[in-house]
Amino acid sequence: MSRPLNILFVSSEVYPFAKTGGLADVSGALPKAIKDLGHEIRIMMPRYRFIGERKFRLHDIIRLHEIPIPVGSTVELGNVKSSFINNLKEKVQVYFLDNVTYYGRDGIYQSPTTKKDYKDNDERFIFFCRGVIETLKRLGWQPDIIHCNDWQTGLIPAYLKTMCQGDPFFKSMKTVFTIHNMGYQGAFPQESFAKSNLPPELFQTNGVEAYGNFNFLKTGIFFSDSITTVSEKYADEICKSPEIGAGLNGLLSSRRKDLTGILNGIDDQIWDPATDEFSFRKFDIKSIEAKVDNKHALLAKLDMDFSENRPVIGMISRLADQKGFDLVFDIIEDVIKLDVQIVMLVAGEREYEKKVEALQKKYPKRISVFIGYDNELAHMIESGTDMFLMPSKYEPCGLNQMYSMRYGTVPIVRATGGLDDTVEDYAGNGKGTGFKFEKYESKELMKVIQRALKVFQQPEEWKRIMRNGMMCNFSWENSARKYINLYKDLLKHNV
Ligand code: ADP
Ligand code: GLC
Repeated sequence: MSRPLNILFVSSEVYPFAKTGGLADVSGALPKAIKDLGHEIRIMMPRYRFIGERKFRLHDIIRLHEIPIPVGSTVELGNVKSSFINNLKEKVQVYFLDNVTYYGRDGIYQSPTTKKDYKDNDERFIFFCRGVIETLKRLGWQPDIIHCNDWQTGLIPAYLKTMCQGDPFFKSMKTVFTIHNMGYQGAFPQESFAKSNLPPELFQTNGVEAYGNFNFLKTGIFFSDSITTVSEKYADEICKSPEIGAGLNGLLSSRRKDLTGILNGIDDQIWDPATDEFSFRKFDIKSIEAKVDNKHALLAKLDMDFSENRPVIGMISRLADQKGFDLVFDIIEDVIKLDVQIVMLVAGEREYEKKVEALQKKYPKRISVFIGYDNELAHMIESGTDMFLMPSKYEPCGLNQMYSMRYGTVPIVRATGGLDDTVEDYAGNGKGTGFKFEKYESKELMKVIQRALKVFQQPEEWKRIMRNGMMCNFSWENSARKYINLYKDLLKHNV
């Protein structure tokens, strides 16, 4: 098929409108790359209250006013607004499904103050999934592919395979479901199921049920025509390991032939040391010595002493079990004895936040902690640190290790998922792009940090590792082509 494809990309977070993690980065960047390759792609997401009408120039679409969207036995109304993501070549249109009751809040999934998930997340995303279907119908736009992402979109393939079956409008549409993280499944008690208005007989193993719950992620995996995840290694791990597959490894293995690992790219307009508006000094591979000025500026901002030869390790992360902080806490006091400074930009589970705060208090000149979300500081850390630490227990893809390599910041990572697929372990003689460890154990983490620190003492060798990372091509174009080929393969079966 050589005609341009029509694709609807559905996600609950899209940068720059709403972000809790890498899903937003991917949802803001992949559609641009697909559009640049000549296809029509539009995005749909919820309109959370903080997506300002003026700031993002949202406009109403009269045709898409007051769309009735059934939720259980009631009917809620949705309004669709529109805006664009600017792109190098063409803009990508974004539709926002608006409903004040469901999305007129300060958080995306949870209250920023209590840090508790909203109790009606089942309804909020039932409304969203069903809303996507109803909006397409009202719009009269028939995408070839609906590309769904994560549990929040998991019911869309089920609606298409059941309720929409008899409707010629939807007949030839195919669904792709991308798993960004098996750790978040959207599992709700059985009572929630009735609110979806899916056929009652679907509440079973060969349907929407997993371990007694109504499971949105499982539903997406079960009903979509094709499944992808964000690295090849993670695709293998979620089939083979009950822990990484989070209980759905059996289902995933049974669909292994429909499951493809496609590595995320990075947005090289936003993450570029040569043009980064937040860097004190811009630099590229030919001027890596300029990077030290960014280290100076970062440490000055954080009120820490600067010494060119003392390595600074950065971390930018959600504070969640996945990210390996238990290992970090085990060894961090030994690490700073090795004449190292650590800069953390983190936010998440309260217990972890308390622990990092206590560390900062104890070692204010060695450990700097910023709790919260700060995009500017994230850029400054990438451009101003020497090493970047990601000791994840599991990592579907991970973006920060790729941002780091682009900024000449050498990653130290655990060999799991996308971290393993993107970082090449240092092998001596200027070979490698970072440092990896295998076993999820604190002594292994300590060893790999020591290994990195030793090489850091050899500046010429270190620069070679920096340059190797900076030369890697993590642009979205390669991955976007893989998605397009996958879409085309699916549509072959339509003729
Ligand atoms: P995940 O999606 O599992 O959190 P990724 O590495 O894929 O992990 O993506 C994380 C994204 O979120 C990156 O763009 C990173 O810079 C950003 N990020 C994480 N924590 C923060 C924070 N506290 N402040 C600013 N950006 C953050
Ligand atoms: C998830 C994963 C992360 C991945 C991101 C984008 O949040 O935890 O590894 O990079 O999604 O796909």
